Parts: sequence; structure tokens; C-alpha cells
Amino acid sequence: MTARPAIYLDNHATTRTDPRVVEAMLAYFTEDFGNAASVHGFGQRALSAVEAARETIAGLVSATAKEIIFTSGATESNNLAIKGAAAMYRRHGNHVVTSAIEHRAVLDPCRRLEQQGFRATYLPVDRFGLIDPDELANAITPQTILVSVMLANNEVGAIEPIAEIGAICRRKKVLLHTDATQAVGKIPVDVEALNVDLLSLSAHKMYGPKGVGALYVRRGVRLEPILDGGGHERGMRSGTLPVPSVVGFGKACELCVMEMERDAERCLAMRRCLHDGLTAKIGDVTLNGHPEGRLPGNLNVSFAGVNGEALLMGLKTIAVSSGSACTSASVEPSYVLRAMGVPDELAHASIRFGIGRFNTMEEMTIAVDEVARVVRRLRAMQPAL
Ligand SMILES: Cc1ncc(COP(=O)(O)O)c(C=O)c1O
Repeated sequence: MTARPAIYLDNHATTRTDPRVVEAMLAYFTEDFGNAASVHGFGQRALSAVEAARETIAGLVSATAKEIIFTSGATESNNLAIKGAAAMYRRHGNHVVTSAIEHRAVLDPCRRLEQQGFRATYLPVDRFGLIDPDELANAITPQTILVSVMLANNEVGAIEPIAEIGAICRRKKVLLHTDATQAVGKIPVDVEALNVDLLSLSAHKMYGPKGVGALYVRRGVRLEPILDGGGHERGMRSGTLPVPSVVGFGKACELCVMEMERDAERCLAMRRCLHDGLTAKIGDVTLNGHPEGRLPGNLNVSFAGVNGEALLMGLKTIAVSSGSACTSASVEPSYVLRAMGVPDELAHASIRFGIGRFNTMEEMTIAVDEVARVVRRLRAMQPAL
């Protein structure tokens, strides 16, 4: 097994479960292990914990508890929102609009719909990763039944103008789904202010456990279920609820309500320190995305002349992600960076830092030194042109 790097800077991939969340979950594995669908006392204790969590989660996004459907995570939430709405409203039209920089958990369901006779429009983005609301308005046709645009991008942290897009969708009477997986718990999210009908979230991106998420479904919006069975979650998502995980998700949301502002301030200060340090110590550093309009903990930079994968492998004490994805045959540069117009050489040279609640300023200083050392070494190995 490879040694574990000491500094975790990959908080967009997943976050450490907050110890306070783990503590809250424990009793639901042991004493309070009941099935929330059972009528006896064990079941009822589990049910009341589930409903308390539902209230807290709803509160974090200004929804009502009845509008929260538990799922296994944002992948499932996105699938349920997109495929469920498409199947339910198919008789009204067969067109969906999304963006080119969505997570694959949105792009692939849209591609699946295309195989089933739907038409999908993938909107382009500008160099900051932002979609143009006017372009979106022009893409909507009488056949459009759903728009799905992410709230915050997982690679460059771009925060999309969802409230504006929501107003357009409302005016044109088209449903709006947003994948808010990277945003919830990091920046304020309010389903009313954003005008969204469907919103996906995931516990493990906000210091909760893996394998549990939710879909906000606005009152009155109906979805064809993907999973049929016991009719749980108002018939929209059958399956016994993972009570400990749901409780942990609720606790994670409670902590975000209390600590989000402080976390965001700390993450922003750490990001600035990291970015300033890298630019001061290393030449030819390009920022990918907007200088300020991004998630507080996101920094995505390219080091010209350095292969991101090689850099990643060379970093012994810090864990980060590169902007390339290994497919079976080759290493492809990030489609998000490509859509933003970043040249392939720079996309291949990109690194994503994801700063989170458990990072410290001291770690930023160590990270700057280590990245600078490895970048210098890799650049020195390059043949002179
Ligand atoms: C924007 C976005 N959507 C969806 C997902 C999938 O989330 P989950 O792991 O909960 O299925 C991720 C996780 O990487 C993400 O960043």
C-alpha cells in the first residue's frame, strides 16, 4: 500500500467525516438500529431521528422537510431528477438543456436520454466557466421540459448564475434542476432565491458520511421513480433508509448551518495564501477559472511545462487532483478546462487544490514548498528547446 500523504487538499473529491458527525451516528448502529419504516418502538425511534435530520437538511437550503427525498448520493439524485422528470413530463416535450461542464453524473443521464429519443443541448461556457443566461434563454424551445445547470463546478469552483437562470426557467415554464453537490455547506444556498425545482446534494462533500445524499423536489413537481419497491420517500425512492447515514447527514448540515461562514472565511484566507505562495515561488503559474467568483476552497492552477499527473505522483506529502482523467487508452485533459478554452498543454499541466474545514494555514506553507520543489525538478528534467 502507498504511504498516506499527510496533508489532504482534495476536499472536492470527498471530505473527512467530521468526528462530531461520527459520534452522532454511532447509536443508530447499536441501540437505535430499527428500520424507520417499522411501526414498533425501535422503528419509531429511527423514524424520529430520520425526520429530525430531514428538517435540518431542508433548513440548510431553505426548503421544507416534505421536499427532501433521501438517496444514495448526488449521482443518484441527479439521475432521479433528470430521468425522473424526463419520463414524467415526456408528453410535454423531448428536449433538455444542460452545460458542457457538468459532472458526469449529469452529462451521462442526458446522453442516456438522447439514446431514448430526447434531444439535449450542451451550453458552452466562457473562460471563467460561466454559462451565459441569454444563451440559455435562446436554447429553450417549446419542446424543452428541463434545464439542468450546476450551482458550483467541481473542478474550477465556478459559481453559475442560477438565480438568473431560475427566473428565465420560471418565465418559460420549464423545470430547473441544479447539481449543488459542491456548493451546499460551502456557500449559502436557498431554493427560493435560486428559483430551482430540483436540487441535488451529497453528504460526503460536506463532512458527512459517504453513500447518502438527497434530492430537493419542489412541492407539486412529480418524478417517475427509478427504483420501485416499498414506496419509501413518497414513492419516489424505494429502499430501507440507511438511518445512521441519514442521521450523520443531518448532523453535517447542522454543523454547516453554524460554521459555514467561519469555514468559508478560513478557506478563502488559505486559498489566497496558497495561490500567492505558488505564484511567488514558481514562475509561469496560470489560474484556471475566475479570480474571485469561485468556491472559497477551490484553487485550480496550471504549471506550464509540467505534466499534472507527474506532479501529482511526485508530491509525497500532499494529496491533490490533476485535471486529467485516465481513460482506458490515454490520459485525456479535463473536458471542463477544454470547454473554458484552456489549451491542452495547460489543461494537462493543471492541479486542483480543494481546501476544507480541517486544513490549516501551516499546511498551505508546506504545500507551497513541496509543489515548488517538485515543479522545479520536473522542469529541470525537460529537454531544452
Ligand atoms: C458536482 C458533482 N456532482 C455529483 C457528484 C457525485 O456525487 P456522489 O459521490 O455523492 O454520487 C460529484 C462528486 O464528485 C460532484 O462533484
